[in-house]
Amino acid sequence: MDKLVIEGGLPLHGDVRIAGSKNATLPLMAAAVIAPGQTVIQNVPRLVDIHTLGKVIAHLGVTVEHDDDKVVMDATATPSDTAPYDLVRKMRASFYMLGALLARLGHAKVSMPGGCAWGPRPVDIHLKGLKALGASVELEGGYVLADSRQMNGGRFVLDFPSVGATVNLLLAVSTLEKETILENVAREPEITNLIRMLNRMGARIEGANTSQLVILGSRDLKPLSFAVIPDRIEAGTYMAAVGRCGGDVMLRGADPEHLTMVLAKAAEAGIKFTVTTEGIRIQRENDLRSVDVETAVYPGFPTDMQAQWIALMTAAAGVSLVTDTIYTDRFTHVAELMRLGAEIKMKGHTAKVYGPTQLTGAPVMSTDLRASASLVIAALAAKGRTDILRVYHLDRGYERLEDKFERIGARIRREQE
Ligand code: EPU
Repeated sequence: MDKLVIEGGLPLHGDVRIAGSKNATLPLMAAAVIAPGQTVIQNVPRLVDIHTLGKVIAHLGVTVEHDDDKVVMDATATPSDTAPYDLVRKMRASFYMLGALLARLGHAKVSMPGGCAWGPRPVDIHLKGLKALGASVELEGGYVLADSRQMNGGRFVLDFPSVGATVNLLLAVSTLEKETILENVAREPEITNLIRMLNRMGARIEGANTSQLVILGSRDLKPLSFAVIPDRIEAGTYMAAVGRCGGDVMLRGADPEHLTMVLAKAAEAGIKFTVTTEGIRIQRENDLRSVDVETAVYPGFPTDMQAQWIALMTAAAGVSLVTDTIYTDRFTHVAELMRLGAEIKMKGHTAKVYGPTQLTGAPVMSTDLRASASLVIAALAAKGRTDILRVYHLDRGYERLEDKFERIGARIRREQE
């Protein structure tokens, strides 16, 4: 296993090229399974999670080739209807195969995803939605057995605007030639990206960017060439690193429209940002102010930036309250940040961060992707050496992280544990 070795304490200067979004790519790859023929997805980040979903899809009989920042998929042959436990358990987004296979075949057998490092992550809304729209759904031996051949559309109100449920339902009805209305859907940019692709494939989906979608599918969806939006969470992570360490960095290709709340909070904290045609320039010269955040569905503050925000706030004068309302137990980074000297108290699902603190290096490890990102930010600011174990979490979601940080002046390298 690899670890990252970071000698902290340097400001960051230069350019970072923001990759395509991981969480936007995964639904697009699922959508490519629906249309017979060759689909090319561009601006794909080179990440383990993308390869993991590629393996699930290849197992179904769809050809998947990764070529630099492109994924070329050929779904000419009729895919198998079964996504097995051994593959699905490696990544929750494999559950998107449920919607995709229902759209393509009308039936699917997909393993139920398990929990994750920070607690249970249910899929009840996905299943309730399919049933409400007329599909049959049964659970058997850890698998969801679903059949959508009698599905007749209609209206479904999601109990909560779940990203995953919105993706699965959109995929499932994308070949249904009867109107479906989905209310209280997720409005994340990754959803809008998927809607654009499905529309280009031949579906008629109205309401992108809003909480109500009116969908008229088509049995004749066509393959296409389509580009992924930039990764707002990668951009936010580099922003937090510059904020924590000080410096001046251009986030090349980042889309400010997708980061409205994060940038507003950063500005409140004393981080300067300038939007240019090339991306977002982040500068931090002065002391930081403490700023409270509470995670919420888009366009609120993303839960995927909560851990990084805590690392940032260890530099801010005062007390910051960081509350996660989406994943209330997603705080495994807190104990590790405290090993670096951070002063944080947990109360329910709120972290109280006391600052400013001078962090000092130590060996740390983490249990998930964004927790690892917050440790990297803290380590870059800490005096001395930090070893971050279990780098494979970062490899799931950050493309060439150590190269990108090294290029902007960090002392960071990968070693064998
Ligand atoms: N929820 C339910 N029932 C459901 C589905 C969700 O109760 O059927 C609840 C969840 O327990 C949670 C909330 O709804 O409290 C939000 O879950 P959502 O379904 O929106 O999340 P997801 O689709 O499982 C995606 C991202 C996550 C990100 C969340 C929230 C992907 C592949 N994953 O997960 O990304 O945290 O949305 O924005 O898109 C990450 O990239 O590190 C990551 C975990």
